[in-house]
Amino acid sequence: MCGIVGYIGKKDAVEIVLKGLRKLEYRGYDSAGIAVVCDNLLHTRRSVGKLCNLTENIKKNPISSNIAIGHTRWATHGKPSENNAHPHTDATNSIVIVHNGIIENYADLKNQLKENLKEFKSQTDTEVIAHLIKKYYKNDLFDAVKRSLREIKGSYALAVICKDDPDTIICARQDAPLIIGIGQEENFIASDIPALLSYTKNMTFLEDGDIAKITKDKIIVVDKDGNEQNRQVKTIHWDPILAEKAGYKHFMLKEIFEQPRTIEDTLRGRVYPNEGKIYVEEVKLSKEDIKNISNIYVVACGTSYHAGLVSKIFFENFAKISTEVDIASEFRYRSPILNEKTLVIVISQSGETADTLAALRLAKSKNCQTLAVCNVVGSSISRETNHVVYTHCGVEIGVASTKAFTGQLAALYILALDFASKKESLPKEDIKKYLQELWEIPVKIGEFLKNVLEINKIAKLFDRKKDFLYLGRHINYPVALEGALKLKELSYIHAEGYAAGEMKHGPIALIDEAMPIVVVATDSTVYAKIISNIEEAKARGATIIAIASSNNNEISTKSEHVIYVPKTDEFVSPLMSVVPLQLLAYYISVNLGCDVDQPRNLAKSVTVE
Ligand code: G6P
Repeated sequence: MCGIVGYIGKKDAVEIVLKGLRKLEYRGYDSAGIAVVCDNLLHTRRSVGKLCNLTENIKKNPISSNIAIGHTRWATHGKPSENNAHPHTDATNSIVIVHNGIIENYADLKNQLKENLKEFKSQTDTEVIAHLIKKYYKNDLFDAVKRSLREIKGSYALAVICKDDPDTIICARQDAPLIIGIGQEENFIASDIPALLSYTKNMTFLEDGDIAKITKDKIIVVDKDGNEQNRQVKTIHWDPILAEKAGYKHFMLKEIFEQPRTIEDTLRGRVYPNEGKIYVEEVKLSKEDIKNISNIYVVACGTSYHAGLVSKIFFENFAKISTEVDIASEFRYRSPILNEKTLVIVISQSGETADTLAALRLAKSKNCQTLAVCNVVGSSISRETNHVVYTHCGVEIGVASTKAFTGQLAALYILALDFASKKESLPKEDIKKYLQELWEIPVKIGEFLKNVLEINKIAKLFDRKKDFLYLGRHINYPVALEGALKLKELSYIHAEGYAAGEMKHGPIALIDEAMPIVVVATDSTVYAKIISNIEEAKARGATIIAIASSNNNEISTKSEHVIYVPKTDEFVSPLMSVVPLQLLAYYISVNLGCDVDQPRNLAKSVTVE
């Protein structure tokens, strides 16, 4: 939610910040803005809507400087408008701030600043921080920010500059991500790695409570108690090219096509199918620890939650450990029964989702072992968990998650097999067979991706429909949920995912001639059952789009449209069957002229509750 970028050095700060914001636009695109100091004056430019509007604005009203902070907004307090767009200044236009997060006590603070009340120009929670800093400013911006933050409750990643101190950016974080990029005679800040990849690979991840003073040659970080800290510098090996479209029309399409490679990258060095060996070295749980796990909770949001639902079947079938899956925003406010024998697995692409982070903290407070499946190195979740298994998917930019999902499935599958191997809950031969099946998946997805235009033909037949039903059973029930989510997110068409066996308990009433039903009907132990569900739907006039295994000669007699995928073992089938559903949603959205990479109202990294 919201992206922040800052630069201080010798180069054109406006260009660098705008380029960085472009990489962070997936975090919000309700408005964008930038502030610079030039000739001891603050200059801001702000525009409603996407970043291109700000770029146009700057072309017409140029600004330049060697210091700048910028912001791309996902609105929380105050509707998207120029007044509510960041950066926000104090009444004298001396201090300017960009902020990601929510200031919970902003109304109280505003009341305390009564004399300034008439000076407030926005409905945001953020603006109050600029006024507060001004109140404390006595020629020392670092000190003024420190004093102000003592009074602030809530979450923030923020950056501040001041017209009287053109050589300094002050930034701080509490429950929202902020990274410092380290350069030669220049330094950067950003909410996320992709914004900085073109400039530096050396990055420091601030910790909660940290406040940093950044000049072009020096970075001073103090912790919440005011003690100076030497935060570790990490080298990030992501290729900046990953953050470009590389000839694809959309990031999402590129990321769908990257899946054979990203799954391979997630498996490489961890899986040796010929020997039946798995090495998940990041997980420091001993055989004894694993044997002692009484139950698993998997907690996540959105697409990651769907990966969690699939993993229940992995952990129960392979490792024979009872597993519950929960939505993080529910889990954190229930009273889940947790103790030191419970393993809590959180799944998060970004590693920053506020509810998932809170669920992790709850689990830690109950002395559970915690393990994260995460894509972003150095993210909050990856740092706070006891163990982390990274999905090596590289940066995912499309707001609708695709390659992160299959990466998560691959990571969870090998984790469950690793547990099975340590617990000896599966015969060695079975482990070998399952590893082999997973190992073959990237090639099979690659094969399937050669014929995607067939899916566009189907998409064109259905893109004017108002409602879709997605059905699946057993391990492919979460895939049906994920397929429906993709369609909703991307095309704004109402779509519901359902366990096919539950259809007759309600959703069957929705079915008529107008209702297309997408059924995941790949080969499985429940194949015959799903065929019965197709028959039931057809008897009510539904049009069926089936996802079926390539060897299936029967299904075309039962479905109007069939998308064939290479045959796989049932347990790995979600990695395969989700791909046509990603593409179906993609093409429908493109045909409708929707904004595929940045669907309305969404943000990729949800760092507020
Ligand atoms: C947002 C994104 C989804 C994502 C979810 C969880 O809603 O739009 O694509 O699945 O957050 O994100 P996480 O980073 O925790 O996996």
